[in-house]
Amino acid sequence: MAATETVLRVPLGSLSQSCYLTSFFVNSTPNLSFKPVSRTKRVLRCSNSHEFARVPNSGVRGEGSFHSSDCALKGKKLVCKCQKHDVEENIRSTLLPPSDGLGCELKSDLDEKPLPVNGSVSSNGNVQSAGTKSIEDEAWDLLRQSVVFYCGNPIGTIAANDPNSTSVLNYDQVFIRDFIPSGIAFLLKGEYDIVRNFILYTLQLQSWEKTMDCHSPGQGLMPASFKVKTVPLDGDDSMTEEVLDPDFGEAAIGRVAPVDSGLWWIILLRAYGKCTGDLSVQERVDVQTGIKMILKLCLADGFDMFPTLLVTDGSCMIDRRMGIHGHPLEIQALFYSALVCAREMLTPEDGSDDLIRALNNRLVALNFHIREYYWLDLKKINEIYRYQTEEYSYDAVNKFNIYPDQIPSWLVDFMPNRGGYLIGNLQPAHMDFRFFSLGNLWSIVGSLASNEQSHAILDFIEAKWAELVADMPFKICYPAMEGEEWRIITGSDPKNTPWSYHNGGAWPTLLWQLTVASIKMGRPEIAEKAVELAERRIALDKWPEYYDTKRARFIGKQARLYQTWSIAGYLVAKLLLANPAAAKFLTSEEDSDLTNAFSCMISANPRRTRGPKKTQQPFIV
Ligand code: GLC
Repeated sequence: MAATETVLRVPLGSLSQSCYLTSFFVNSTPNLSFKPVSRTKRVLRCSNSHEFARVPNSGVRGEGSFHSSDCALKGKKLVCKCQKHDVEENIRSTLLPPSDGLGCELKSDLDEKPLPVNGSVSSNGNVQSAGTKSIEDEAWDLLRQSVVFYCGNPIGTIAANDPNSTSVLNYDQVFIRDFIPSGIAFLLKGEYDIVRNFILYTLQLQSWEKTMDCHSPGQGLMPASFKVKTVPLDGDDSMTEEVLDPDFGEAAIGRVAPVDSGLWWIILLRAYGKCTGDLSVQERVDVQTGIKMILKLCLADGFDMFPTLLVTDGSCMIDRRMGIHGHPLEIQALFYSALVCAREMLTPEDGSDDLIRALNNRLVALNFHIREYYWLDLKKINEIYRYQTEEYSYDAVNKFNIYPDQIPSWLVDFMPNRGGYLIGNLQPAHMDFRFFSLGNLWSIVGSLASNEQSHAILDFIEAKWAELVADMPFKICYPAMEGEEWRIITGSDPKNTPWSYHNGGAWPTLLWQLTVASIKMGRPEIAEKAVELAERRIALDKWPEYYDTKRARFIGKQARLYQTWSIAGYLVAKLLLANPAAAKFLTSEEDSDLTNAFSCMISANPRRTRGPKKTQQPFIV
């Protein structure tokens, strides 16, 4: 490939920051100049000269004071140039909240810390934090304090805002997956700018050239996280640049590629359109291209025999080695949901027929595969228990050659008579029988699980409340790996010790997915119970990232406090329970075309129809 540096200049005249953003993204090729510079990197430079020291109101178009503004890709960063007198304001602007909501003036108090938290149950039964503030109000304050600004515009929320943490690691970055509940909370509150900005800026990051030790991952990859940096401008002492610095996994612990980022991005984009009624963002050419790039990456042919997405360990919320390489449920649930959302948003155009066909075929096959082979309940366990093995044939019942001895002893007593769930992973001769919450909950939300299965998953959660929720919702997976298994599968990871962190820890952020799922199935009381439980301690405990022990009794060993997605997850749960109809922005209903295609496949499946083969019915999607 030609070695070029791309310089994108966008002079915007005297436009406000908001106008600048709009113009920048609306014109996908404004004043582009390409000049060869380095062998592997592309550069986007964005510079602004501000006239006023104050960052303008980002919510009001036409106001503000930017006399010149140009943008450029630089290295692997998005750069925004500012004059020296704006430095202090811009450093603040990367972390401090507007005084009265987004799109308002920035606070000037640089020393602002998260509020002191003294949660207690008030006499009227409402859970309150310090003084008169309700937990919800406190959560909103904290969420606003986590907002990150880029050139004065809100573009995301940092992962954690823990003032006492000694090692920040990458928790000061905007994680794509962590922002989803923040974005939804803002959408539900009617504050749309931050979500729109997030969608459009991360889209710009998608096309970065990224490399790890000379290898470039696929073009549609979205970063795991990004950071806004303010750096001195080369050769001009009076100026600084704001830089968006993405991490595609090349700096992440373990160098894991964030497969879920692009999928969440599509899901949020669709929620934005549904919630605001503004379809102009999803219809933009650059956004349509972004969707297609993600789809192409996910739908690319490989060596795989299964319709599920093949990924490495740690490519999703569980971003460390936890034995979830292969076809983990979480990725499949997000993949399916993103395909459904993308199908809704793609505008028909010449040349996209093949992509749409591939997408439809994949939806049918994935739906069938998960519902048939990932489903587990008492009946299915008994079936596996009696499996024959080594069946060489096209109509094998035990297609994946699962040895019955794999059924773990904990499962036999654990599975309730009523209910079931989708297993964590399926590979040749391997079923991961662990229960993974996010995958199961999002399978309900996106209708990857059938209606019957969705209810059964909720039945299972209710039956196993003491194990999956106990003192704090919600276990990320169940059960924990211990002893030799932990040593071999996690590589003796001291963070993922039994019943801690990803290995059976409880993550309050999962409250929002539980809420969407239970509202979708008409069973909001499940989420209400979980929220009530969380409210007893979450603010008191300073909004931890996760809890440890079997019953989630301790704040996690290395858990951050004031973890943004714990705060936002709680807020989304509260907002949705107050307005259940809004859950529709996130859910997808069963598609009748898919159901028809699915039933054709079911009736052709040898597990259901041993014996002489019936003629296979063709289906049209
Ligand atoms: C941890 C979590 C990951 C999250 C990140 C930032 O690495 O495993 O899911 O995105 O922290 O909060």
